[in-house]
Amino acid sequence: MSRTAILVSCKELPSGDGDDDAVVPALTSLGFSVSWAAWDSSLDFSSADAVILRATWDYAARRPEFLAWCESVPTLLNSADVVRWNTDKSYLVELLDAGLPVVPTSLVSPGDAVRFPSSEFVVKPSVGAGSRGAARFAAGADASAHVAALHAEGHTAMIQPYQSSVDTEGELALVYLGGIYSHAFAKAAMLGSTMDGSGLYLTEELAPASPSADAVALAEDVLDVASALLGILRAELLYARVDVVRGADGKPLLLELELTEPSLGFRQTDPAAATRFASAVRQQLA
Ligand SMILES: Nc1ncnc2c1ncn2[C@@H]1O[C@H](COP(=O)(O)OP(=O)(O)O)[C@@H](O)[C@H]1O
Ligand SMILES: [Mg+2]
Repeated sequence: MSRTAILVSCKELPSGDGDDDAVVPALTSLGFSVSWAAWDSSLDFSSADAVILRATWDYAARRPEFLAWCESVPTLLNSADVVRWNTDKSYLVELLDAGLPVVPTSLVSPGDAVRFPSSEFVVKPSVGAGSRGAARFAAGADASAHVAALHAEGHTAMIQPYQSSVDTEGELALVYLGGIYSHAFAKAAMLGSTMDGSGLYLTEELAPASPSADAVALAEDVLDVASALLGILRAELLYARVDVVRGADGKPLLLELELTEPSLGFRQTDPAAATRFASAVRQQLA
């Protein structure tokens, strides 16, 4: 059975960032004819069997245009509704309200009064990827200028206490394919890294990791709650990456749930992960 799969990128990185190098042959072996295309290219995406968001790193500054494009693609993975919900980190507040352990998060819109945490903290855009626009501040610092700069760019600002475990342990990314746990990898602290040559994301330092039981248990709860909020089954998510950090009490906290363009760590895990990904694409089309 021959089918077409388009891996979606952006103009600056037309063939992705390398994370998917093993995915292309895996999809090919499972019967797909695979190509890459930037989401804002003139290609007609409507006839492809699967259109898979992989390296659309540039949507943050053009989110309405990106979402309109997502809605025009009938076979988008993950779906446009999932992308709409997931590309604004205010979903973290919904997950917090649903009772999940999430890094404490407050949203600041233009005109809102701001109170900065009394400990070290982070200010970042609620719509953002690749760590762009995220900055770390010392306890007691006045970050109003950074908040104002994010507002001037049209963003809502997001404030979180800095989780210092990130400096020693990094964050743990747990990858789910078709709603089932696949593998995990570790990501070193980002704030302090240099920008990648493409200017799209801060350079990431990734390493293989095996997750502790409490981190997996949290990731499972996150997938259950997020899919309930979205009104879908976990299995309808081609991929999900749950980013976990440890709080001051040592317990795992959700930092981010990536359903749109995550690095999935294929170079940091067993080669069969790419096969599981291709198999999960087949499952989405079944
Ligand atoms: N509250 C936080 N505590 C510690 N580090 C943080 C915090 N928020 C962000 N960071 C650092 O900034 C990086 C980017 O922030 P993140 O929320 O993951 O956004 P994105 O990856 O979508 O740009 C993280 O990988 C982490 O290294
Ligand atoms: Mg992140």
